[in-house]
Amino acid sequence: MKKDLLSIKDLNQEDIEYIFALAEGFKSGVGGFEKPLSGKSIGLIFQKPSNRTRVSFEVGIFQLGGNSIYLGFDDIKLGARESIKDIARVHSRYLNGIIARTFSHKDTALLAKYSDTPIINGLSDLFHPCQALSDIFTLKEKFGKLSSVTLSYVGDGNNVLHSLMYASALVGMDLKFSTPEEYGPREEIVEDVKKIAEATKSHIACYKTPEEAVKNADAVYADVWVSMGQEEEHKKRVDDFQGYQVNDELLSKAKKGAVLMHCLPAHRGEEVTASVLDGPASIVIDQAENRLHVQKAILVIYIGGKRKR
Ligand code: CP
Ligand code: NVA
Repeated sequence: MKKDLLSIKDLNQEDIEYIFALAEGFKSGVGGFEKPLSGKSIGLIFQKPSNRTRVSFEVGIFQLGGNSIYLGFDDIKLGARESIKDIARVHSRYLNGIIARTFSHKDTALLAKYSDTPIINGLSDLFHPCQALSDIFTLKEKFGKLSSVTLSYVGDGNNVLHSLMYASALVGMDLKFSTPEEYGPREEIVEDVKKIAEATKSHIACYKTPEEAVKNADAVYADVWVSMGQEEEHKKRVDDFQGYQVNDELLSKAKKGAVLMHCLPAHRGEEVTASVLDGPASIVIDQAENRLHVQKAILVIYIGGKRKR
């Protein structure tokens, strides 16, 4: 495995299976590792707010015996008070690992370039790998064999969709998505994902309408229309995304018994209705819980020395 986890692209199918096996162990309480992060300090460089990512990483680090140091936007002023290169080189002398949440993926990649210590991407504008791994883990829990699952994503072609695309392709799961035309996922990522999907026989496809995208889906996924850092576009985006809301009517067009997924935070009345988010199909809190178990697996592998290869 690579030193860093910046994108799901850094993993292969075997790596994902290994992460899931460890996560299952943690979740069921038979993890079997005695404080593998004992004596280790892990920095959380967060340029953006966070609830799940911050709390689940800090709790996971604590449970594994390590020490977490939260460095928010105003603490180190990444790239403004001093260069990312200097921060990475200094932190390499103090820290055993860094979880980074940045505005620009380039900044996370720069941290990784100059850091000797592993960098784990806790969300960038391009990717959210820990989220997508937890989501696929949640689907595996619910449905078992991932190769017979169809996930549908409706909304913005953003960081969450990019990572779900890579994860689905790698595990051989089908992913159907629908976004407004000007808000599609990056072309180069779609092309790249399709190459991986060919090898695993996963079907990743874009549909013109949300209705077509949710047809035969086992799970329907919604994410915010306005991601962190895009607040100024709020009004335009809400207008542009009309028709892309996941509501009861849309969900009823998926497979009978289909589940509703959302990485949270959610905006009830925008990308998803309260009736769906708080209804019986919703598995959003399971997704949030699984962040903890999956990230503990990531922590022991990348920072705790439990590498498979
Ligand atoms: N899903 C997710 O990453 O949540 P936070 O932004 O609260 O960390
Ligand atoms: N797409 C969202 C995900 C939040 C977890 C954002 O980047 O703000």
